Amino acid sequence: MADWTSDTIDWSRFDPGLVAPELLRVVKAAALVEYNGRDYGAYLAAVFADDPAFAAAAARWAEEEVRHGEALARWAQRADPDWDFAAAAARFTAGFRVPQDATASVRGSRTGELIARCVVETGTSSYYSALAESAAEPVLREICRRIAADEFRHYKLFYDHLRRYQQQERISPVGRARIGLARIIEAGDDELAYAFFAANAPAAARYRRKDWSRAYAALAYRFYRPHHVERGIAMVFKAIGLPANGWLHRNLWPLAYRFLVWRARRLVPEAA
Ligand SMILES: [Fe+2]
Ligand SMILES: [Fe+2]
Repeated sequence: MADWTSDTIDWSRFDPGLVAPELLRVVKAAALVEYNGRDYGAYLAAVFADDPAFAAAAARWAEEEVRHGEALARWAQRADPDWDFAAAAARFTAGFRVPQDATASVRGSRTGELIARCVVETGTSSYYSALAESAAEPVLREICRRIAADEFRHYKLFYDHLRRYQQQERISPVGRARIGLARIIEAGDDELAYAFFAANAPAAARYRRKDWSRAYAALAYRFYRPHHVERGIAMVFKAIGLPANGWLHRNLWPLAYRFLVWRARRLVPEAA
């Protein structure tokens, strides 16, 4: 269990002069997604109902995600005292819900569910590493560093259980790759775009997924550096059973990084 909460953070170091507006916008969105962690915890408890050890680990995991949300929200409210976190969180959950009535994984198998969880933790560990390295504001830097460390640990938690289930279910290499890829593509779906909208849009604004997912990606992609992409792709490869540092990884990650830079450049003028 993570040994920190937002009270562990030394808030006296907060420097409002070093708050970057674009980081503030993505941090507000991240706070909403993290704070929603209990919904995922309930979903995982239902999917793994007859595996109490995993269900208990998933419940602890969900509480850690909620704490991430609390720390990020506290920072965002320091940086922008007019921001109403409770109202934004209510707006987010009114428009986006994790399936609450599932009894089996939406990925088709438990191995598949755990691959998807590993992909998500790969995304969050890379993202908070990138935010920590981009942030000039010392408190945000510390929060993102602590969260990134938790997200790497979460990846390991899901990966350990993934190995166990893969031995029982024996999903084919193609099947595993397909699940991993599907979850990566889903990152462009509603959850992040809607969180970005709920956290930042004026009250009268209407949600259009295409606009808000572009606006979010235009901001978020620019924080990544080559080493984040290199490590992130190695982690996804490991989760789907491919060699993490083999030929394919060496050749794929620079292309993925170039794609990200190209996408970020293309998105910026429309989002501005
Ligand atoms: Fe988190
Ligand atoms: Fe996590």
